[in-house]
Amino acid sequence: MAYENIIVEKREGRVALIQLNRPRAFNALNGALVRELMEACRALDGDDEVGCLVITGNKRVFAAGADIGEMATATPVEMLATDLLDWSALTGARKPVLAAVSGWALGGGCELAMACDMIVASETATFGQPEINLGVIPGAGGTQRLVRAVGKALAMEMILNARNLSAAEAYQFGLVNKVAPVETYLDEALALARSLAGRAPLALRLAKEAVNKAYEMTLAEGLDYEQRAFYLLFSTDDMREGMKAFLEKRDPAWKGS
Ligand code: CAA
Repeated sequence: MAYENIIVEKREGRVALIQLNRPRAFNALNGALVRELMEACRALDGDDEVGCLVITGNKRVFAAGADIGEMATATPVEMLATDLLDWSALTGARKPVLAAVSGWALGGGCELAMACDMIVASETATFGQPEINLGVIPGAGGTQRLVRAVGKALAMEMILNARNLSAAEAYQFGLVNKVAPVETYLDEALALARSLAGRAPLALRLAKEAVNKAYEMTLAEGLDYEQRAFYLLFSTDDMREGMKAFLEKRDPAWKGS
């Protein structure tokens, strides 16, 4: 499929790179961009040549939030019709999805990064939820994911008082996995993606699912879920191969079965 608002490339090591590409609007997320992004996530998640997805912007901006021009006169019904906030193809992806963030990640941009499984940031990255300045609140997960990532006190300050986080602060408070120089942050994200894409696919999928269940379940339910997923992996070829390879002191050759 030809995209107008994103660029999709397959990179070495079974990694797919999706670049948000509305640079003149600071990659503001409009309905068309989000629809393309979700279509790409769906397609790449189902593509056997791909083991991990990376979503990025450019060095200056990851995404400056939902498109204010598109929203300014919108009614609730029009907002619903755009599917602007339907990110289920991303949040439901079976494969790991990384965000490689440089520059502004504001509003929906910050929420998009948080909807990914891990974030690699450049030293210039700035994270924030400034919706309060527009007379609204975050609408794509900010009030929920930010609290879980950085805790209530800081999330309150960011969302109620439009306090931004620098990359160093985002790392300090656990929002991002890694901070790298602006020249290398994308390479670092791609290297992390290659490392993930080289792992046993079914274990990777169940590991991601189990970690995400920690958001949704009680501890007892989550422990039970984890144990069942653990036992299920004993039916895979890759489990036999992984343990055999360890005992034979060699690298495993994963089959994805
Ligand atoms: N929507 C639409 N256009 C946007 C935009 C947005 N969210 N953010 C930036 N732009 C556009 C600007 O209008 C400008 O376009 P023109 O050159 O055509 O005028 C261009 O991008 C560059 O922006 P600035 O001139 O403002 O650049 P700057 O360097 O002075 O500031 C910025 C950069 C701090 C990111 C600033 O643009 C800004 O504050 N943007 C808005 C951030 C924001 O409020 N995001 C939340 C949106 S609401 C939301 O996201 C809801 C949700 O939860 C889903």
